[in-house]
Amino acid sequence: MATASRKTTQAPAKRATSAVASKTTPRAARAPKAPVAQEATALLKADHKLVSSLFEQYEKTRSTARKKTLVASICMELGIHAKAEEEIFYPAVKAALKDKELVPEATIEHASMKELMAQVEGKEPDGEMFDAKVKVLSEYVKHHVKEEETEMFPKARKTKLDMKALGAQIAARKDELKASWPLSEDKPGILSRVVEAIS
Ligand SMILES: [Fe+2]
Repeated sequence: MATASRKTTQAPAKRATSAVASKTTPRAARAPKAPVAQEATALLKADHKLVSSLFEQYEKTRSTARKKTLVASICMELGIHAKAEEEIFYPAVKAALKDKELVPEATIEHASMKELMAQVEGKEPDGEMFDAKVKVLSEYVKHHVKEEETEMFPKARKTKLDMKALGAQIAARKDELKASWPLSEDKPGILSRVVEAIS
């Protein structure tokens, strides 16, 4: 008898507690409107994937008009990606890792890519030399992506860097850059300026 009466008094109390909890936490109604920020390394990897696919499409097409469109997309995506990395991701990683090697190398690689991008951007895809420049650019990018994804990103993720906050900053900066593309400051000769800046 005593056991039965304990059961009947406990059950309603439990229900009451859960009812209060559900009334005070209407999470769905208060969900933030902004999309959840992508982690910086995931966002940068997605950029790499996009650019790689654009290079693949370039290799497959024979249409000059299509090549020109693809090169414009490659240069824009790569240019914006590189700038956002240089302004936000690299300084954060350099400080967190006390790095004196990975970030300077990556910055020089960006500069080499920009030199080559300047030789194809807005130009007519008029033959084998143009194709060769795009091919070499794709190889630079492949090498650069491999270094970032196998060395820099894993090391950065082991630090206390807030990857979501960095990702949000990078995404916002990319939007700004996209709105003002093409940029006027990234002209040929940047390699020497970058070498001066980091030496
Ligand atoms: Fe990158």
